[in-house]
Amino acid sequence: MNVIVFASRKGGSGKSTLAAHLAAHVHKITKPCLMVDADPQGSLTLWHKLRGTNEPQIKTAVNSVSGIVAAAKRDGYEWVFIDTPPNLSAVVDDAIKNATMVVIPARPGVFDVNAVQETIQMCRAARKPYAVVLNGAPARRDEVESRIVTIAREALAKFRAPVWGGQITNRADLLMALGKGEGAREYFAEGRAAAEVGRLWAAIERSVKAIRGTASASGVMHKQAA
Ligand SMILES: Nc1ncnc2c1ncn2[C@@H]1O[C@H](COP(=O)(O)OP(=O)(O)OP(=O)(O)O)[C@@H](O)[C@H]1O
Ligand SMILES: [Mg+2]
Repeated sequence: MNVIVFASRKGGSGKSTLAAHLAAHVHKITKPCLMVDADPQGSLTLWHKLRGTNEPQIKTAVNSVSGIVAAAKRDGYEWVFIDTPPNLSAVVDDAIKNATMVVIPARPGVFDVNAVQETIQMCRAARKPYAVVLNGAPARRDEVESRIVTIAREALAKFRAPVWGGQITNRADLLMALGKGEGAREYFAEGRAAAEVGRLWAAIERSVKAIRGTASASGVMHKQAA
């Protein structure tokens, strides 16, 4: 079982959005994903209500996730995705301690990029692999990424933060899907939003395989905190 934690003390960076879209993308009856909403704001829980099915399943965590993670392991889950609140509270710390890998979404703005440092510190303290995912980015034009995204990458490189080479673009489809309780692929399988979510998942899966030692670590998105 692998635990992916979505964490960033910056509000609105895309933790809940990425957790919901990826959970919908990944969940299969044969390889089930459990979602854990550890944020009292309850965004993931709202999406799950709008979805109106119990797949993937969701659990709510208040102060700790460890009990839920242990039970998920016993119950045979393949994946656990934990959405966390925008702070550095005990439940975030506990989620990171339980993580196979931490995904840190960041919008490509100066305040957002700087805010990832505290979350990175938490990952380093817990010696957990982590990666930053640029989210809500302006669309690429003619395959060239926006100047804002390039500047964000340069700033993240300065404090040696590992960053996914792709981006999740700011797209109405991602919002529309959430409003219907769907993932990007369910909403519009051929759309660009679905393609980006698929690419992000492929990168996370590649990292997890490298972390587990079942694949080469070359070209992975994450950094293993030492
Ligand atoms: N790539 C995107 N394209 C369009 N809208 C997005 C994108 N990412 C996030 N949003 C929207 O931006 C808002 C903030 O995103 P989200 O709630 O996922 O952030 P969060 O990090 O979970 O916030 P919080 O810290 O408050 O929990 C939401 O309305 C969400 O739907
Ligand atoms: Mg959220």
